[in-house]
Amino acid sequence: MLHGRRILLIVSGGIAAYKSLDLIRRLRARGATVRCILTAGAQQFITPLSASALSGEKAYTDLFSLTDESEMGHLRLAQESDLLVVAPASADLIAKMAGGLADDLASTALLATDKPILIAPAMNFRMWGHAATQQNIATLAQRGVTRVGPNAGPLAENESGMGRMAEPLEIVDAVEKIFRTGETLKGRRALITSGPTHEPIDPVRYIANRSSGKQGHAIAEALARLGADCTLVSGPTEEADPPGVKVIHVSTARDMQAACEAALPVDIAVCAAAVADWRAEAAPGKLKKKDGATPALKLVENPDILAGLSQPGNRRPRLVVGFAAETENVIANAKAKRLRKGCDWILANDVSASTGVFGGAQNTIHLIDADGVEDWPTLGKREIGDKLAQRIAAFLIVKAAE
Ligand code: PMT
Repeated sequence: MLHGRRILLIVSGGIAAYKSLDLIRRLRARGATVRCILTAGAQQFITPLSASALSGEKAYTDLFSLTDESEMGHLRLAQESDLLVVAPASADLIAKMAGGLADDLASTALLATDKPILIAPAMNFRMWGHAATQQNIATLAQRGVTRVGPNAGPLAENESGMGRMAEPLEIVDAVEKIFRTGETLKGRRALITSGPTHEPIDPVRYIANRSSGKQGHAIAEALARLGADCTLVSGPTEEADPPGVKVIHVSTARDMQAACEAALPVDIAVCAAAVADWRAEAAPGKLKKKDGATPALKLVENPDILAGLSQPGNRRPRLVVGFAAETENVIANAKAKRLRKGCDWILANDVSASTGVFGGAQNTIHLIDADGVEDWPTLGKREIGDKLAQRIAAFLIVKAAE
């Protein structure tokens, strides 16, 4: 399955372009999000309208229109994908890729990406057999580009031979294989907390905070993409349940703690939730205004979920990762918090109002472990999820080898 996978499908010119429409449909049926770029050649065979109707996304063309650039620059288009699929890949586009040319949107996106690339070549058999094409294919293979097809069979203009694009189903299988190969957390169990908690004051009011759940949900999704069996314990958020993740919805800190304990044992715990440190001693009935008197709230300390998970013992996850939401002395406070709570890593983030981290799309993380501090650049929360998941996978692989 391809749930949560973002594929950038680049369609170049050739009669096989019509099959790319079926490919879009099949990729989406497996759960992938598909965005398309159509080269000028592709648009001789299919229209951006049909690609966009089938993908449910805007289809991008070779025109560097100002609208396209401001809405979605070619760098973001490639970077916000997990895989680039070129189908059909014409001899011309393959040559551009091998030569590092970037003279249209498709070739620029392909040059500007560090994401995996899969090509499905399609061309006349003489073009396929030509030494130039074969050399270009070998160059791309050396650079790690994966290829599916071409197959032998009937070609355009009543010819037959090697050069027919792989069938859409074969391409989907190749896509799934690429993602399966990257499942470095297969067989591992992960627990993630996310979002705020709501602590009732009375039956209608509660204490909450500004956490949107974006960061925690993105981490759960990224761990699941690497094959981990994930349980996400989420406070009340507007975020959709991430695909392929078991989600337990809770409201209070105590509910969250109970759900976390029920999810044990796990290999990995990541506590991204903004758990209320205190709850009010809730009134059984709605507090009433009485002659202008202000009610006093008595606060009681909530259980510390992260500290509880970090306790030594045979139920302790192999790796416990906490967050430190700080507004001053970020690194020093986060270092102290890591030691106080007993977790292995702490991800420090500056949550001052000016950073927009609470509820925002981006974050700047400082990963602190026993060895020191690793400063990450400002990234989208999804990218942070991916980076953390990769880091966790690398850590567990090293530990398993020790
Ligand atoms: O949800 P978003 O809008 O995407 O915003 C992301 C975020 C800012 C919420 C996230 O990046 C973040 O910083 N999460 C931790 C928020 C927090 O409560 O930080 P803290 O420094 O108060 O707590 C330290 C750690 O202890 C955290 O891992 C927290 O989950 C955990 N904790 C805190 C209190 C408690 N009672 N139980 C806990 O487990």
